[in-house]
Amino acid sequence: MARMHSPFPSRPFLRLLLVVAAAAPMCEAAVPAIIVFGDSSVDAGNNNVISTVLKSNFQPYGRDFFGGRPTGRFCNGRIPPDFISEAFGLKPAVPAYLDPAYSIKDFATGVCFASAGTGYDNATSNVLNVIPMWKEIDYYMEYQQKLRAYLGEERANFILSEALYLVCVGTNDFLENYYSSLPGGRQSQFTVRQYEDFLVGLATEFITELYSLGVRKVSLTGLIPMGCLPLERTTNFFGRNECVQDYNNVAMEFNGKLRKAVARMNRRLPGLRMVLSEPYDLFLQMIRKPSSFGFEVAQRACCATGLYEMSYMCNQHNPFTCADANKYVFWDSFHPTERTNQIISEHLVKELLLPTFS
Ligand SMILES: *[C@@H]1O[C@H](CO)[C@@H](O)[C@H](O)[C@H]1NC(C)=O
Repeated sequence: MARMHSPFPSRPFLRLLLVVAAAAPMCEAAVPAIIVFGDSSVDAGNNNVISTVLKSNFQPYGRDFFGGRPTGRFCNGRIPPDFISEAFGLKPAVPAYLDPAYSIKDFATGVCFASAGTGYDNATSNVLNVIPMWKEIDYYMEYQQKLRAYLGEERANFILSEALYLVCVGTNDFLENYYSSLPGGRQSQFTVRQYEDFLVGLATEFITELYSLGVRKVSLTGLIPMGCLPLERTTNFFGRNECVQDYNNVAMEFNGKLRKAVARMNRRLPGLRMVLSEPYDLFLQMIRKPSSFGFEVAQRACCATGLYEMSYMCNQHNPFTCADANKYVFWDSFHPTERTNQIISEHLVKELLLPTFS
């Protein structure tokens, strides 16, 4: 009887509370998983295990990540899929599919197939010997099989069709491939307008292929003002290190073409719900007026001299790396800081992704 008057809940009731609390995150998540395809903007470490020079699994990369751990993310901390996953009620970091520290149990709520240096175009992934987009799909098909074996057909199919798929790629097709004027490269075969159309065609094929594998909820990401990446500004000798306006114009034009392609695919592929995430304008505001976002520097990156270093050139032996990456828009000469990733991701989640997919 004394127990009835106890200020504490009874044991069975307490147990119920614990069960409900433990189950809550799963019930609250707006999608069952976040699945990622693309390049270094979203690679969580797949390049660590392939033979390419394009890596970032060493200090100072990751110094502001959980445990100060360099994971292979091209950032001082987290990248957009991590923030998006957390905002959707899932885990705070989306693991790389090829990272041996993780297994299908971890990948059931989120997995990343992205590879730094890749592009829509096979010729782009060839430049630095990274994972081409068709191979990312191969890995995804293998993942589907593992997930079905792990969770059973029904639960796995639910996850695969209800998951939110993030696709972020395209910058390298222009900067690493087209404009790098490789011998016999795309510049000798296409005008830039023709190349934009070629890439939009490849993007359409890529999404259609995913659709045929059961993918339904997609966020395709447009290009950022790629002429303002520190590396491009540094090498803009005749433009006094301003943003390369031509590259920004191409990014805007390409985004316009992608927008049309997204509308077309949504009409033609029944049940597809795809949005175009466009961080271009917000990114440009940060670069033009860094102080209104709490930044101090937008022209140079934090790592090393901030002018041209990335990957192995951005390393712990460089004495110039900045002390507080939160003051910088860019972490290395090609990639945003965690703070920038967070601002962009929160904006996309609030304005577009949560309203559309929850
Ligand atoms: C890219 O390479 C894969 C594998 O060789 C091939 O199946 C695909 O058609 C190629 N895509 C283009 C656009 O060349």
